[in-house]
Amino acid sequence: MSAAVITLETQANASQNLIIQRSSADVSLHGRVQVPGDKSISHRALMLGAIAEGETEIQGLLLGEDPRSTANCFRALGAEISELNTELVKVRGIGLGNFQEPVDILDAGNSGTTIRLMLGLLASHPGRFFAVTGDGSLRSRPMSRVVNPLQQMGAQIWGRKGNTLAPLAIQGQALKPIHYHSPIASAQVKSCILLAGLNTEGQTTVTEPALSRDHSERMLKAFGAELSIDPETNSVTITGNAKLYGQKVVVPGDISSAAFWLIAASIVPGSELVVENVGVNPTRTGILEALEMMGADIQMENQREVAGEPVADLRVRSSQLKSCTIAGDIIPRLIDEIPILAVAAVFAEGTTIIKDAAELRVKESDRITVMAQQLNKMGAKVTELPDGMEITGGTGLVGAEVDSHTDHRIAMSLAIASLNAIGTTTIYRAEAAAISYPNFTDTLVSICQ
Ligand code: S3P
Repeated sequence: MSAAVITLETQANASQNLIIQRSSADVSLHGRVQVPGDKSISHRALMLGAIAEGETEIQGLLLGEDPRSTANCFRALGAEISELNTELVKVRGIGLGNFQEPVDILDAGNSGTTIRLMLGLLASHPGRFFAVTGDGSLRSRPMSRVVNPLQQMGAQIWGRKGNTLAPLAIQGQALKPIHYHSPIASAQVKSCILLAGLNTEGQTTVTEPALSRDHSERMLKAFGAELSIDPETNSVTITGNAKLYGQKVVVPGDISSAAFWLIAASIVPGSELVVENVGVNPTRTGILEALEMMGADIQMENQREVAGEPVADLRVRSSQLKSCTIAGDIIPRLIDEIPILAVAAVFAEGTTIIKDAAELRVKESDRITVMAQQLNKMGAKVTELPDGMEITGGTGLVGAEVDSHTDHRIAMSLAIASLNAIGTTTIYRAEAAAISYPNFTDTLVSICQ
């Protein structure tokens, strides 16, 4: 008999409850796991394919809800994008500057990357009008971080609360280049400005306070844009009026999705997993460094480079974790993994401090408040800090009724926490996982048995 019973119940309103019952003390996780394609790279491959000339072929695209939102928006802007699948997606681009004016509002769904990156492109398309919106979560997330610099470039954008919240209306303009000093290390902000600069005469520069993920820079270069990078100052300059040409993109597995299995196998005694084909771009591997500080047993195997991105298989064996402090420049390199790192900290010896991570409050949910509340319902000792959390390890967890707050990373983090909790946990609104990891529950079941 399986040591854990995992059931997914679909409610009348299509919401799902994930129920995880630890039926014996000797659960352990074994096997090889393939994680879905990287979300950030999937969005960028669809977007750059759409504005390039000729055909782009994408292998390994993430089939989550977020890339579907991107594909639908860029179809409405005129790109031909074949049905999404992991084997091969073909994008027939329309060439830079050639968006058609969509007949309806562009819907970015739950996806901050879709709306913020797309805004840079829309604002720089003169003579066309666009309207963009998203779901309830996205409509409450700050857009001023991209609207302000775009306005400095001459963009015309209107929205609720002083043009800070979606829905937004955009009257495309010929923009002027700027040097933008971003107050936050955000790849969405950086990429938005670079994409606006792509369609703007002259040189546009973004400087950020710490290095955020650099997938846009890598892929823009591969598609033929002229880009220079100054690593000393974390600055990127793009030359406008570029021509992009369709490329073959191979999307590596998402390290943010791999993180759930790395931590699951670390905290569940007697486990050993190999997570295959994981993107290990240095701007994303903060999670591996944090887990190393915590004493995790993770080995990188079969390191290689695939279509301009470093990739490896990650072998993880369970180990007794110890607490650490996670703060400073590492934060943007592991920002999406902090909810699951909080779960690791619950099972670590000592008190873990996470700070300089106020950005977590404006993600798909307020990930500081939500993780603290949900883990505390399970018996953890998590104290909220204005910009992070303090987590007292070694409390153990007991099953409880918890809620994802419709945030994919919260849903999956709570599922991993439940694997190591005594008794039964019910995670409400667990369907949120499909935003970035449609087969999450199937993989969970397969490695527990
Ligand atoms: C992303 C950047 C990050 C990250 C998000 C994806 C991207 O957001 O949290 O999940 O693809 O550019 P910020 O740029 O807001 O930090």
